[in-house]
Amino acid sequence: MTERMEDALNKQLNAELYSAYMYLSMTAWFESVNLTGFASWMKTQVVEEIEHGMKFYDFINDRGGRVTLMPIEGPPTDWDSPVDVYEAAFKHEQYVTSLINDLVNLAIEEKDHATQIFLQWFVTEQVEEEASFGAILERLRMIGEAPSPLFMMDRELGQRKVSVPTSTS
Ligand code: FEO
Repeated sequence: MTERMEDALNKQLNAELYSAYMYLSMTAWFESVNLTGFASWMKTQVVEEIEHGMKFYDFINDRGGRVTLMPIEGPPTDWDSPVDVYEAAFKHEQYVTSLINDLVNLAIEEKDHATQIFLQWFVTEQVEEEASFGAILERLRMIGEAPSPLFMMDRELGQRKVSVPTSTS
């Protein structure tokens, strides 16, 4: 693996951990406004992002590279409303998709086939990530400020379970 590829993968490891940190901040915000179902949904996302980070961690090591941890930027801490949170989260996922696409482009440029194959999982995952955040955002926009549907949605989102990682996921 080239040094350029290794640096880029280390940066993505940091970006995934930042995602976890930001979603943890969003979890804390939902707790602070007593939307515990949204908080629980977001906390599950935190675990997923750490798993994403660990996939990069393991891959860098498996390729004989060196994992280099960098400081994780402090995330925002305040939002105006649930819509505001999901708008920020959706925008963040679109940004992560662009980072993954840039990594794929670099792997192609470097003729690094193993990294290209490794990144395919993330290309697919980002489609799902954008779809799940986008769907919640759309519903929140429809609901507006109406408390009753918001509490129903809160109860529903509280059902999200952590997916148990398998060797293929
Ligand atoms: Fe790791 Fe939400 O993308």
